[in-house]
Amino acid sequence: MTEQISRARGIRGAIAVPGDKSISHRYAMLASIAKGSSKIYNYSTGADCHSTLGCMRALGIEHEFATENDTPVLKVHGKGMRGLRQASGVLDAGNSGSTIRMLSGILAAQPFSTTLAGDESLSKRPMRRIMKPLAEMGARIEAANEQFPPLTIHGGPLRAIAYQTPVASAQVKSCVLLAGLYAEGETSVTESIQTRDHTEIALRELGADVRVQPRFVRLRGPVTELHARELAVPGDLSSAAFFLIAALLVPHSELIVSGVGLNPTRTGLLDVLRAMGAAIHVLHLEERNGEMIGTLEARTSMLKGGVIEGATTAAVIDELPILSILGAASETGLTVRDAAELRVKETDRIESIAHNLRAMQIEIETAPEGFYIPGRQRFQPAAIESYGDHRIAMAFSIAGLLADGTTYIHGAEAASVSFPEFYNTLRGIIR
Ligand code: S3P
Repeated sequence: MTEQISRARGIRGAIAVPGDKSISHRYAMLASIAKGSSKIYNYSTGADCHSTLGCMRALGIEHEFATENDTPVLKVHGKGMRGLRQASGVLDAGNSGSTIRMLSGILAAQPFSTTLAGDESLSKRPMRRIMKPLAEMGARIEAANEQFPPLTIHGGPLRAIAYQTPVASAQVKSCVLLAGLYAEGETSVTESIQTRDHTEIALRELGADVRVQPRFVRLRGPVTELHARELAVPGDLSSAAFFLIAALLVPHSELIVSGVGLNPTRTGLLDVLRAMGAAIHVLHLEERNGEMIGTLEARTSMLKGGVIEGATTAAVIDELPILSILGAASETGLTVRDAAELRVKETDRIESIAHNLRAMQIEIETAPEGFYIPGRQRFQPAAIESYGDHRIAMAFSIAGLLADGTTYIHGAEAASVSFPEFYNTLRGIIR
């Protein structure tokens, strides 16, 4: 599918974004192994989170979407820690790295074998990062070329481990913690850079005794029972990022995004934007299910540009495609370092960003672990290729708002991996 985008004269309005993708995956998996029916409000509409639900259904966990008092709700009928059943076929994780990596932790502890596969992009993504700790815990895992999906996980009794993650990855941390729920003794994860802590928070909400210190988390297994809960998923800040940055860059803009997740391990984006001079404010903040949720307001701003490196890179890793657009429009440009992980996302995002920026006549210098984009550049309309990567499709749709003429986004349907309503929402705020 090709979308056509032209210059915007303003971005104005008040919007909400779909439920957070990271939190939705975790709630679906944990509700499946909790005892009883959980109600999940604002579950992500993205295809990735439906892949997780499909996998859980194949493992014997039923769910349904219902409406209660005009509010849509997902009900997941959990069967307890030992309630999963062997699937009759191969589980399909689709495009979702979170599904395959986190679910592997649960499957490693089951008294049966499971094969997990995904689409072409997922089939190229590195899995050794979860295979290694799970093997140390006692699981046997087969993979294509010993590192790629499909994964066949021969589950069984697990040993607790103290694991130090070699790459900053919340998916790896979560995988080990989920396996640790079933292992005898204390499982812990130490990270050199803090990553998103949604698993730790969700486990606590469902009644697990999880102890957290900075960059260190531990739990004692086996956990005999998690409790079914009512859970509300905050809006996805990584989805809101596209519109917030559109409002900062397009003249005469003022945008409100309500009900968005503001967990401090996810708000690195706001710190980066504020340091560049962005007029972006939190209007309201509250806690729900242990997660912070609030309303954001963004207005057209002069943006300085800057350097993103170290822990900040990890904190904004999903926002780097849209930050690259901002970088080209900023005063001094954008340098990104320590971003080797970008090369193993849904696409090699350093390449997919560079290719599409150059198509729009924007200069970029790439490096193995980052890029530099000079500032004060002008976007020209172009034919963009998403390469099937949702965040590339959405980031370059925002770039199209800055160009005179029509920008064509080929493969725009990729947006539905995390944000099926993206183009409708965008049309509603363009002036
Ligand atoms: C995610 C963690 C990050 C992020 C991904 C979602 C999660 O990946 O990029 O979109 O839900 O835990 P890594 O764990 O590979 O850093």
